Amino acid sequence: MNIRSRFPDNFLWGTATASYQVEGAANEDGRGVSIWDTFSRTPGKVLHGHTGDVACDQYHRFQEDIELMKGLGLEAYRFSIAWPRIFPEGRGKQNPRGFDYYNALVDGLLEAGIKPVPTTYHWDLPQTLQDAGGWPARDTAYAYADYAEACFKALGDRVDMWITLNEPFCSAVLGYLVGRHAPGEQDRGRAIAAIHHLNLGHGLAVQAFRKGGYAGTIGTTLNTQTARPATSSPEDIEAADRAADFPTRMFLDPLIGKGYPRRFLDAYEDAVIPIEDGDLDIISSDLDFLGLNYYHEDCVAHDPDHPEGYRKVAQYQPTTEMDWPITPQGLHRHLTWLHEHTAGMPIYVTENGCAMPDILSADGTRVHDHDRIAFLRSYIEACADAVQEGVNLKGYFLWSFIDNFEWAYGYTKRFGIVYCDYLDGRRIPKDSYYFYRDLIAGME
Ligand code: FCB
Repeated sequence: MNIRSRFPDNFLWGTATASYQVEGAANEDGRGVSIWDTFSRTPGKVLHGHTGDVACDQYHRFQEDIELMKGLGLEAYRFSIAWPRIFPEGRGKQNPRGFDYYNALVDGLLEAGIKPVPTTYHWDLPQTLQDAGGWPARDTAYAYADYAEACFKALGDRVDMWITLNEPFCSAVLGYLVGRHAPGEQDRGRAIAAIHHLNLGHGLAVQAFRKGGYAGTIGTTLNTQTARPATSSPEDIEAADRAADFPTRMFLDPLIGKGYPRRFLDAYEDAVIPIEDGDLDIISSDLDFLGLNYYHEDCVAHDPDHPEGYRKVAQYQPTTEMDWPITPQGLHRHLTWLHEHTAGMPIYVTENGCAMPDILSADGTRVHDHDRIAFLRSYIEACADAVQEGVNLKGYFLWSFIDNFEWAYGYTKRFGIVYCDYLDGRRIPKDSYYFYRDLIAGME
């Protein structure tokens, strides 16, 4: 049976990218500096010292990319807006050229019959706001909401699907606790404050969207996860449930009116949320949909020595270039869990895909990435199973349209269905591009 026929006709087929990962043009047209510019220019932070200065140069080559999207029969393109292009100093004075690029991109997509789906924040915080305290500072939430409102005002007449934040877990935890992402801090108290202020910023932006009466829908993108218990013992089952507290409940639960998970906060003395009266009401402002970025599932066992009561254990599946196990059943399980936990909220998979050891053919025209095709087929089948069981899944965005700057890994991990030759910016559709084209056309 062909895959597409297992989804409703109005299911949305898209691809995704993010500003710092693809745009380049870091110093053009009045763009300010973001924490990722600073971080990637700091020796030792990003593999090989790679930066997003040029990236895929989508800033200059977006027309060519739209042509490739047309060839795919793509229905939607998820991209992100670079905050420092709009407000080089984070807030206050708007850069008049800031929206020129996004206006042209949105118009080009619409002309090609492709729905533009902007994310307002995919990790490129203006450096000035980091210098003033970053996400651990409450004020950043208000600066973000002002910036998001400027986006709604500028593009809201043509955009009808908005995403506020991308993976606030990564912004807060990789950025302020683990230090592997910009701004590279390692402080639990500040990471917890960052979580709350990201959630608050999201809520304030949703309120501004509702107040402004813009047409269309608004949601957010989380990388929620539920782990698999290693055995069926009650201790391991409880461990798996606890494993969802940090990556999932700390973000999702306040959004859907369930507050923060006490069990997680009680595990750490320095996990104190700087909450003020009324914050939870703002954060739980009505959402139209939930975006899910999903790559893999962890397997966990009970561990009384860990403050959160669990540890990750070994798994058997083949892995991708990220060393992430290939677990399509995990996506199926997680979608089912999300559907129940959110009482049937509309869900979009806003990212899914894999890094594989892509090899350009000797004549430079093909990439035979059949490992990626097998990955995509299995994860999309898992989505189809969930849809057929009644999960309210509305669309799927493949990560990524094109190879790009993979954060701390620089350009060493390729996620695209289009190969990017970083020497000259040349685009080469991989076999997975033709697979996705056929799938969208109902021919797979
Ligand atoms: C997600 C990010 C995205 C990309 C993929 C591989 O966590 O949102 O930008 O890097 O991982």
